[in-house]
Amino acid sequence: MLNELINWYGSPEMGGVIPEGEAFQARRLRVLEPAEYLNLSRFNQSLYACALAALAPTTHNTIPQRFRIENDGAVRVFVDRKYVLPASDPEGRQAIISMGAVTEHLIQTYQTYGMDGEFVITRSNRDAFLPYADDGSEPVVELGVFNPQAGDGEVDLSKVEAMVHRKVHRGVYDERPLVDEIKDMLIAELQRFPSLQLHIIKSLMVKDRLGAFQAQALGHVLGNQLFREELGRFFRLNDDAESRVGMRGREFGRDDRTTLILKQGMLGEGEIDAMTLQGFARAEQDGLRSATAVICITGENQNLDSWVRAGMLYGKLILKLQLLGITHQMHAALTEISYFPIRLANLTLKSTILHCPRRELLSVFRIGVPVEAQPLYEKHASKKPVEELFV
Ligand SMILES: Cc1cc2nc3c(=O)[nH]c(=O)nc-3n(C[C@H](O)[C@H](O)[C@H](O)COP(=O)(O)O)c2cc1C
Repeated sequence: MLNELINWYGSPEMGGVIPEGEAFQARRLRVLEPAEYLNLSRFNQSLYACALAALAPTTHNTIPQRFRIENDGAVRVFVDRKYVLPASDPEGRQAIISMGAVTEHLIQTYQTYGMDGEFVITRSNRDAFLPYADDGSEPVVELGVFNPQAGDGEVDLSKVEAMVHRKVHRGVYDERPLVDEIKDMLIAELQRFPSLQLHIIKSLMVKDRLGAFQAQALGHVLGNQLFREELGRFFRLNDDAESRVGMRGREFGRDDRTTLILKQGMLGEGEIDAMTLQGFARAEQDGLRSATAVICITGENQNLDSWVRAGMLYGKLILKLQLLGITHQMHAALTEISYFPIRLANLTLKSTILHCPRRELLSVFRIGVPVEAQPLYEKHASKKPVEELFV
């Protein structure tokens, strides 16, 4: 296995945006040429798909996905519940939505090389994925199995290119309006997800209100000791070249000094002064205001199936958008802090749903094109290497 892995890493064109250091090695995955991929054993074809799925976005960059590859190439997909966060994700929704994006990476890899695949959820009970509480229960739980399928589709490397290059961008976007082609493209993706709906928010007034909610949400998170400490555990200093999970301050546009103040404050080792807090909240607010659109995914239920499918749809959309030069930022607090979803639903959904009066809010993210010259946001997040994700 290691021989193949060594061959796959070392993408030179990513040099400028991937920081030096072991923690970023997994990001240097090459886009394999079709002949190279198709000559691999079934096992190694799935190993490459898992290496790409290691790059998927996950909440707080916790990377909870775990894999087991069978000899026929089927991939058993697990969740490490030690990375389901009790304060910010008490029901495991964000972890499971992340897993949806992970499984979509598996599907997209196979489709890239002209094949296909299906993910079958093998659980029905979302409580199987609650945060691990050291209570004798299984810490690593199977979510489902990905079955590769033969196909005669066209080879199109752009999907793998999108996975390799994608990152969240939390800076200010350039406020360009949403053109109909992109809106139609987003809506067309719903075909595979009949139980889900997209609500595409373009109104400046509504984006402003969302920005105000988001700033309040950040105040709420930093004002609550459990939330704050949990975020602090996954918040990294900008020069941290070792931690493979978590997020550097620069990924939030924070310089070295501000990152240190925030990190120490979150861990209770210092105070976060008003200016620092305000700067952080303001950036989130300005970000939402500047978005081309804010996308809400809704479903019929808050169950495991809806969460996985919402994650798959989100994963599919962000890769499609990436190919068009459009980036995104997820805003999970708007779905997780209990009083926001209701206010958000009143603000955004009531008028747009004519036939489905009761929808459940599953996911909220903003999309757009970053304004130029925001160097602090440009570098990629660290990732766990795929060989550490096997059970
Ligand atoms: C389900 C989910 C929830 C997330 N929530 C947030 C969020 O509330 N705010 C945010 O800035 N990023 C959020 N993210 C983005 C992750 O923090 C990000 O994917 C991770 O740090 C890795 O960075 P990368 O996507 O650039 O590789 C979320 C991602 C997922 C999949």
